[in-house]
Amino acid sequence: MPKPPVIRTVKNLRPAIGRFRKAGDTVALIPTMGALHAGHLALVRLARRKAKRVVVSIFVNPAQFAPHEDFASYPRTLDTDLAALSQLKVDLIWAPGVREMYPDGFATRIEPEGPAEAGLEDKFRPHFFGGVATVVAKLLQQVTPDFAIFGEKDFQQLKVVTTMARDLDIPVTIVGAPTVREKDGLAMSSRNAYLSEGERAVAPTLNQVLKNCASSINGGQAISAALRDGRTKIEGAGFTIDYLEARNARTLAPVTATKDGPIRLLVAAKLGRTRLIDNIKV
Ligand code: PAJ
Repeated sequence: MPKPPVIRTVKNLRPAIGRFRKAGDTVALIPTMGALHAGHLALVRLARRKAKRVVVSIFVNPAQFAPHEDFASYPRTLDTDLAALSQLKVDLIWAPGVREMYPDGFATRIEPEGPAEAGLEDKFRPHFFGGVATVVAKLLQQVTPDFAIFGEKDFQQLKVVTTMARDLDIPVTIVGAPTVREKDGLAMSSRNAYLSEGERAVAPTLNQVLKNCASSINGGQAISAALRDGRTKIEGAGFTIDYLEARNARTLAPVTATKDGPIRLLVAAKLGRTRLIDNIKV
């Protein structure tokens, strides 16, 4: 299959999207930062089922990284990404450079509230959701898709983006897609590439603990006790925990009992220099 065209400027993007529209075709966008894995590719497949035309954006967004985070070292694998996408019949790849996305004089930032202030990722990455909301708003304006697909792997991000699109009256349907995992349960992530062999062997503990907590809670154990046991197991495996929490799956508000549900368990923890996140439904 031919490699999909890679477009790098808004000036060239507009007429390309215009051609899809002229043909009466619907468009789905999958925003990514590249370093594509099977999780991203599942979003592409879902997009194919939703719309006639599929656009994948690849942009490592400096605005969502804090100065001490991994912007410079974030894996950039454009050639392999293009090869993977050409297997899936993607219509267009939108890969602007940093100067194209944030030209000199760029001076606007979206400050999301609500789910962006739930005290989960935002507590440990205060820059993050402002940067995500700003770049996703720009991507939606640039590509003007009917659908934009986001993974549940980044559960809080999915809520932030859904709220942002609704609040700003952006005419798009945000679609959430289930987390794709390795055979041993580890949620696929571009950052898994940072794990040493030893760390990789331990990494599935996060998902195991989430599953154990969920079944304990479903079996009647108090949420606080289940989470306490979970934290002990995660720390025992060598992680430093940022959070392990039970939240309302719709609002992300804290929950103390199953009657406060539907419940989502969310975790973030560091293993060596790699920060991993995961979440599951109870
Ligand atoms: P990135 O981490 O590249 O992820 C792109 C999309 O893939 C996100 O919607 C993410 O939730 C989804 N994804 C990642 N791993 C997944 C997995 N294992 N299963 C299912 N979906 C998965 O998230 C971002 O980029 C950025 O913040 C972005 C939204 C592109 C804004 O810059």
